Amino acid sequence: MAVPYVLLSCAMSVDGYIDDTSGERLLLSNAEDFDRVDAIRAASDAILIGASTIRRDNPRLVVNSEERRAARVAQGLPEFPLKVTVTGTGDLDPGLKSWHHGGEKAVYCPDGVAAKVRETLGDLATVVGTGHTLDLPYVLADLAGRGIGRLLVEGGSTIHAQFLTAGLADEIHLAIAPFFVGQLDAPRFVGPGTFTNDLHHRMTLAEVRAIGDVALLRYLPKAPV
Ligand SMILES: NC(=O)c1ccc[n+]([C@@H]2O[C@H](COP(=O)([O-])OP(=O)(O)OC[C@H]3O[C@@H](n4cnc5c(N)ncnc54)[C@H](OP(=O)(O)O)[C@@H]3O)[C@@H](O)[C@H]2O)c1
Repeated sequence: MAVPYVLLSCAMSVDGYIDDTSGERLLLSNAEDFDRVDAIRAASDAILIGASTIRRDNPRLVVNSEERRAARVAQGLPEFPLKVTVTGTGDLDPGLKSWHHGGEKAVYCPDGVAAKVRETLGDLATVVGTGHTLDLPYVLADLAGRGIGRLLVEGGSTIHAQFLTAGLADEIHLAIAPFFVGQLDAPRFVGPGTFTNDLHHRMTLAEVRAIGDVALLRYLPKAPV
């Protein structure tokens, strides 16, 4: 069975940070770019994020546009994409917004914490045990089995780095916001790692687009150069 098409989406500052060190969520994009992301969510079968982002940012992760939701339903799709959270510890608060907005939710976690997550979340999400550890190819294969053809990955750093070091991303959307964060300890798009796209394996730059004061860069990591 084919694995889903994987699109990584991220907004960053000019100096490469995707958040700052304050407790507040840093909004990097502008309204027009948030609407672009909304359209991409609406065109996805599932949206995946890491547990750290769901805990820290507490996003709703929904398609905001009523028209886009209606168009999905008219096509015979669920109103909202499936929301997928990946966790190793299983520490997920049932009060987080994501569980209470949108449509179906799934949590992928190692078997060792699956019972704990089921107990914590009850019927808020389907819990999928991934064996002794959690490996992204396993998650992708399982999502394919659930009919997911297009997967949008919305971070954070750890998740993006795993997809990119494993060569599992088909497309990257980087929205560059026109300011600096300037904090050494703030999270970056990805940390250090051995990436499949290095000096000798350059990505294809598919598009550069101005969205108000944000620059969208669209890369195809797997395309031959
Ligand atoms: N600007 C943007 O576009 C954007 C978008 C999203 C996030 N962010 C920022 O990114 C930051 C969070 O990034 P992050 O790197 O700390 O966290 P993250 O990538 O969101 O989540 C990491 C967590 O996901 C789980 N996980 C990931 N891979 C796993 C694996 N292979 N096996 C088991 N569990 C796995 C673990 O959860 P457990 O800890 O539960 O084990 C891990 O701690 C936040 O500051 C957020 O604001 C920015």
